[in-house]
Amino acid sequence: MVARVGIFDSGVGGLSVAAALHRRQPSLRIRYLADTAFFPYGGRHPDEIRERAVVLAAQLVEDGADALVVACNTASSAALEHLREVFDLPIVGMEPPVKPAVESSTSRIVAVLATPGTASGSRLARLNERFAQDARVFTLPMPGLADLVEAGEVDGARVEEMLAAALEEPVRAGADAVALGCTHYGFLRPVLARLLPAHVRLVDAAEPVARRTMHVLAERGFAAPEGAGEAGGAEDILCYATGDATALEATITSLRDAGADLPSIRIGPSVRMGRPVG
Ligand code: DGL
Repeated sequence: MVARVGIFDSGVGGLSVAAALHRRQPSLRIRYLADTAFFPYGGRHPDEIRERAVVLAAQLVEDGADALVVACNTASSAALEHLREVFDLPIVGMEPPVKPAVESSTSRIVAVLATPGTASGSRLARLNERFAQDARVFTLPMPGLADLVEAGEVDGARVEEMLAAALEEPVRAGADAVALGCTHYGFLRPVLARLLPAHVRLVDAAEPVARRTMHVLAERGFAAPEGAGEAGGAEDILCYATGDATALEATITSLRDAGADLPSIRIGPSVRMGRPVG
C-alpha cells in the first residue's frame, strides 16, 4: 500500500521537504497544509504554536495520514514532543542542521539562520550543547525573512541586504558552514550562494528529513516500491492553505519562476480552521 503523508508548515517553507520526499517516492500521497492564516510562526509564543500545531495535526490525521512531518523548525521546536504525546502515529520533526554543519566545518565556526522563535528556543540550545561544544556558533535570528519568502520574494535588494547584514560578522570570523534553520530559507539558496564566499557550505535539513520519513514509513510496513516512479505513478502534492489559496498559488508560481525544484502541486480550496488570527 502507498503511504499517505501529512505535512504542515506555516506557509510554503515545508514544500522543500515535500519536494524532497516526492523525489524519493513520487507515488507517495502527500497532503500539505500551509497554515498561512497564522503565518508567521517565527515571532509567536511557543504555547500558541503548540495549540495551533495540534489543530493542524488533527486535521491531517482525520484526512487519513499514516505519518506526519512537521516541516517547520519553529513548530517542531515548540510542539514536537507535545504532538507525539497527543497523536498515535509516527511524527517526524525538523531542527536546525547544527550537527551536519559543525561536522562539515573545517574552521569549526558556523552560522545558523533561524526564525526568532527557533533562535531563542530550547531545542537549538540543546543542539548547540550536544553538537557544537568545540565550535563557535553564530545564531542569527532573522525576523521578517520568512515573510519575504512567503510573499514569493526570494531575490532582490531587500533579501540580499537582510542576509548580507546578518552574515557579515560570521563570515569575517571565518564561518565556513551556514545551517538553514527555517524551511523557508531553503528557497534562498541561490541568493545565499551568490552572497557567500565559494568555500562556505550551505546545510539544509530537507533531504535528511525526507530520508528519515522514508525510514519511518518502512518501519511501519510501507516499503517504497522498486523504481518508485514507475510503480504506482507520480502523485501530485495536494496543497491546502488555511488562508488565501490564491496567494499561496501565486507564491508557488514565484518560487518556480525563481528556479525552485518543485513537483506538480494541486491547490485545494482554503480550509478554515480554529480561531481567526490575532
Ligand atoms: N518555515 C518555518 C520554519 O521552518 C517558519 C516560518 C515562520 O512562520 O516564521 O521555522
